[in-house]
Order: sequence, then C-alpha cells, then structure tokens
Amino acid sequence: MNSWPRSLRAPHVVNIEDLRQMAQRRLPRAVFDYLDGGAETERSLRENNRAFEALAFRPRSAVAVPQCDLRVKVLGAELAFPAILAPIGYSRLIHPQGEVAASRAASGAGTAYILSTISGHKMEDVRAASTGPVWYQLYLLGGRAAAEESLARAWKAGFTALFVTIDTGVAGMRERDIRNGVGQLMAGNWLGIIPYAPQFFTRPEWVAAYFMDGGLHALPNVVIPGKGPMTLLDVAAALAESVVTWQDFRWLREVWPGPIVAKGVMTGEDARRAIDAGAAGVVVSNHGGRQLDGVSATLRVLPEIVKAANGQIEVLMDGGIRRGGDIIKAICMGARAVLVGRAYAYGMAAAGYPGVTRAVAILRADLERTMKLLGCASIGELDESYVQLPRDW
Ligand code: FNR
Repeated sequence: MNSWPRSLRAPHVVNIEDLRQMAQRRLPRAVFDYLDGGAETERSLRENNRAFEALAFRPRSAVAVPQCDLRVKVLGAELAFPAILAPIGYSRLIHPQGEVAASRAASGAGTAYILSTISGHKMEDVRAASTGPVWYQLYLLGGRAAAEESLARAWKAGFTALFVTIDTGVAGMRERDIRNGVGQLMAGNWLGIIPYAPQFFTRPEWVAAYFMDGGLHALPNVVIPGKGPMTLLDVAAALAESVVTWQDFRWLREVWPGPIVAKGVMTGEDARRAIDAGAAGVVVSNHGGRQLDGVSATLRVLPEIVKAANGQIEVLMDGGIRRGGDIIKAICMGARAVLVGRAYAYGMAAAGYPGVTRAVAILRADLERTMKLLGCASIGELDESYVQLPRDW
C-alpha cells in the first residue's frame, strides 16, 4: 500500500478529485479538457454525477461485517471487485504509458481492462501487460476489412470479449476541444498549434515526455489494407463514416468467437434490440456525457434497461463513478458491475502506472468500507432495499 510515491499518498491524494487536480496541474489545457470535458452544455456529464448524489443509502446498522465478498462474475470472468477499466481513446496522449499502464493496473487489482480501438499502443503489448481478462472495444474505423483484421489479431492475442460502441455515429460536439485546438494537436499541425501554444509552455514535463515518446503515434491496431495504420487526422472523418448498426452485429457474430457487448444503450427498446442481435450484454452508457448532450443520467435509465433485459443478458453501466459508494449504488439499481473511465484516467494523467493503481485502490477501499458501513457482507446481496430513491424519480 505504501509503495506509491509521496505525492500520491495521503494527505496529498485522498480521493479521485485530488487525482483530477493533479491531472490538471500536469496536463496542457487541451489534453486535460479532452479528458475532463463533455459535449455541448455538458448537461449529461453533470447529470451523471448528480444522480449518484441524489440517491441516499439505507444502511443496516448493528451488523458485524468482518469480511466482505466483493467478487463478481462478468462475461465468464471472475473479477475481484465489480469495477472494470473503461476504454479511453488515446490514453497515450494523457501519459506515454497509456493503455499498457491501465491494462497492468487492472490485472494487478484483479479486474478487467477494455482497450479502445483508438489506442496508441499495440494490442499485443497491452495484452502482455496483463495476467487477467482484457477485452476489446470496437469502432468500425476504416470499414469492415480493417475491423476484421483487428478482430482476428485481438482474438489471437487473447482478448476474450468484444465491446461494440453504438453511441458514436459521429463524434460529439466537445466545445472545449474546439476552443483549445485539439483538432490541430491531433493532426500534428504544428503551425496551426502556434495560437494555442501558451498552454504547452506551462507544462514542460508533459511536453518533454510527449516528445520522448515520439510525439503522436498512428493507430497501430487500425491497419487500413494497402495503406497501413490510420493516422489521428483521419479519425474524426472515419468515425462519421463508420456507424455501427444492429445489422452489423450479425456479421460481428461470425467474425468474433467470444461474447459481444453493446456499449451505449440508454433505453429499454435498445436493450431488447441488443438481445435480438445476439449480444451477451449491454453497457448502459452515455459515453461519459461526451456524445449526445441532453440524454439522462445513466443511473436514472438503468432500471428501465435492467427490466427490459429480464435476466437474459448482463447489464453493466458507466458514467459518473467517482467513489466506491457510486459503484454500490449502481449495483443496488441493478447493474452487475460498472465501468470507470475518468476516475482512473485522472490517475494516469497524474502519474502513469502508479497513478492508475492509486485510483483503483481508492475506489476499492471506498467500496469495502461502504459495504461494511451498510451492513452488507457481499456484492451479491446488494439490492434496492439499500438505497432511498428521491421522490421525483
Ligand atoms: C471515453 N470513452 C470511450 N468509449 C469508447 O467506447 N471508446 C473510446 O475510445 C472512448 N474514449 C474516451 C476518451 C475519454 C477521454 C473519455 C473520458 C471517455 C467513454 C468511456 O469508455 C466511458 O463510457 C466513460 O468514460 C464513462 O464515464 P466516466 O466514468 O468517465 O464518468
């Protein structure tokens, strides 16, 4: 526990918000806002967090809970606790260790990591960093031919489940990114970056690490036949041309031998469509408030989707998890487990691999303490009786 550098230990870092502030001090504004921000008014981003605040606990006191069983089975894999590290596109921009650090930290904590299609590290290296389950997230960048090649590679490397993100028919309108020149940064357009340069002068450590890492990398896991790895410049346009539809699930089931999960389900109707399309699970997700602004908080729509799923498929959720107590609330409302995105990515930005392990340890310690305070000895026993819904839900 005490192997973290002093800067990551208490009293400097006590919770995820402390890691967020460290991230803000280390990253240029463009990169911090890319990680921290959401789409348009950021209403859905705020609502995700607010929904957790609105839900109160109903503890069972005077109950001795010397041991807590935090284990859960997801997609056939036994996880030490019910939080999975979500796919975060271009983690290598946040920290050179990026996806490799996240995969290693997840495995060290006994949980799974989901690798984004938009990765700066080779999937084989990400797989090799973990001794636990590693899953692959798919965008259809570059079309079916490129995807088939990536999926064959991923399966061969040992990725055992596929998360197909269905909420990104086009990239969301992230206003902070436009103001900060993220487009120019991603395009490697140094002349275009000049007007945005001051934010980089004040973050020399990040800039040095970025250049020592070789600057911007093309996407090593999206290889366009006859052309080679896709460049970041092409990603936005490729996303808009790569809408995944339910018809694609039939093809995906032919080319992917493992379970397929639809990530980005926000209604009971879409949960039923996912079942009809042969999915093994869904992630109730609004992409952390980064895609369609104005959609509900994921915690609010979770019960509708659990009901529609009717026990036929696994229901995961993400969006707004910043404390272990949030994980418990999501499970009380019917999720089997959650994905955490920014919570670990702030740790990555703050300090690379040790930062991710610190974030995960904070969530896990919170989770265990909160279970004991609730008087609940195992994750499997959590249900709605442990929470009080606000009157207007
Ligand atoms: C994401 N997310 C995401 N999802 C996905 O399917 N593929 C991706 O490449 C990315 N990229 C990405 C980048 C960044 C910087 C963020 C913050 C998020 C969404 C992610 O997997 C997850 O759904 C949300 O992050 C969950 O919300 P919280 O935990 O960040 O509040």
